[in-house]
Amino acid sequence: MSGPRVFVTRPLPSGGTDPLTAVDAPGPVCEVVQRPDDEPLDKEGLIAALQGGFDGVVAVLTERFDADVFAAGEGRLRVVANVAVGYDNIDLGAATAAGVVVCNTPGILDDTTADIAFLLILAASRRTSEAEAALRQGRWSGFHMAEFLGRDVHGATLGLVGYGRIGRAVARRAEGFGIEVLHHTRTPTGRPGWTADLHQLLGRSDIVSLHVPLSPQSRHLIGQAELAAMKPTAVLVNTARGPVVDEEALAEALEQGAIYAAGIDVYEREPQVHPRLLAAPHTVLLPHIGSATVATRTAMARLAASSARAVLGGQMPGNVLNPVAAGSHLSRD
Ligand code: DGY
Repeated sequence: MSGPRVFVTRPLPSGGTDPLTAVDAPGPVCEVVQRPDDEPLDKEGLIAALQGGFDGVVAVLTERFDADVFAAGEGRLRVVANVAVGYDNIDLGAATAAGVVVCNTPGILDDTTADIAFLLILAASRRTSEAEAALRQGRWSGFHMAEFLGRDVHGATLGLVGYGRIGRAVARRAEGFGIEVLHHTRTPTGRPGWTADLHQLLGRSDIVSLHVPLSPQSRHLIGQAELAAMKPTAVLVNTARGPVVDEEALAEALEQGAIYAAGIDVYEREPQVHPRLLAAPHTVLLPHIGSATVATRTAMARLAASSARAVLGGQMPGNVLNPVAAGSHLSRD
C-alpha cells in the first residue's frame, strides 16, 4: 500500500524533503511530488495541483492558501506545512474550517534573522551600501574627512517593536554594543525596557527594529504619523513583513529627512520594491534574505517536512498553529 502523497510547491535546500521519505523515521513514508519550477505557484496552479489528490503540502511563503485552495483539496488534504515562521500567506480560519492542520517553522531562524537585522542596523547607520557603490563605480577619490559620515550604533537607544524570539535575539546582540534596549508590545512583558506607548518608544529610539508578525492589526503599523514621531536622526529596520510599513510614507520620510536611514529586507508587494524607496537616500535594501543561510533554510525545510509527516501519522507536533482543525484525530507528541 502506498503512503500519503505530499506536494512540495518549490525546490528546497538539499535534504530538505528527506524527513518525508526516510524509511527509518516514525510515521508513514510519504510519496513526494516536488515542483521543479522555482517560481511562485499562483492560485490557479495551486488549485490544479491539489485537484491531483494530495494528503499534505509543504509550501513556501510565496504560495497563498485561501478557502478556494482548501476547497480544491477537500476530502483529502490534511496538512499544510509552511517553510517559514510567518504564516500570513495562509488563511488560518479557512484552513481550520476545512479541517486542514497548518504548521510553521518557529525557533530555528531566530538567530539567523537577528543577524540580518543587526547587519541592517549597522549598514544603514554607517551608510555602507552607498559607500561601497561609490567605490565600485570609481567615484571614490581617496580619504575625505567629511565623506560618508554616518551615525554611531554603539551607545545608541534601540527600540524593538515586537519582542518575540527574533526581537529578543536582536536585543542580545545589542548588549555587546552598549546599546540601551526598549521594547513595545501590546501586553506588558514584565521585562526592563517595556514601553506601553508605541509613539513614546519611537520618539526615544535612535534605531527602531520591527519584529511583529503581519496581521490586520500590524498592517501599516508604521505609517506617516509613526515616522513623524521618530527622531530625524533615527534609523528604521524591517526584517518582519513588508506591509507592516507604509512604504510610500517611508520613502517620503527619507526624502524629507524626517528620519535618517532605513534598512529593509521585506516589502509590501514582493518582489516589487516601491520606486521611491529605491531612489530614497540612506537606504539599504535586501531581497528578503533574513533566514537565508544554508543551515537555517535546510533546517526550516526539514522541520516543515517532518511536521507534515508527523501530522499524516496522527501526531500533533508542537508547531501546529490550529490544533482545533485536527479535531480528535491527532495525538500530542
Ligand atoms: C519567515 O520564516 O517568515 C521568513 O520571512 C522567511 O524565512
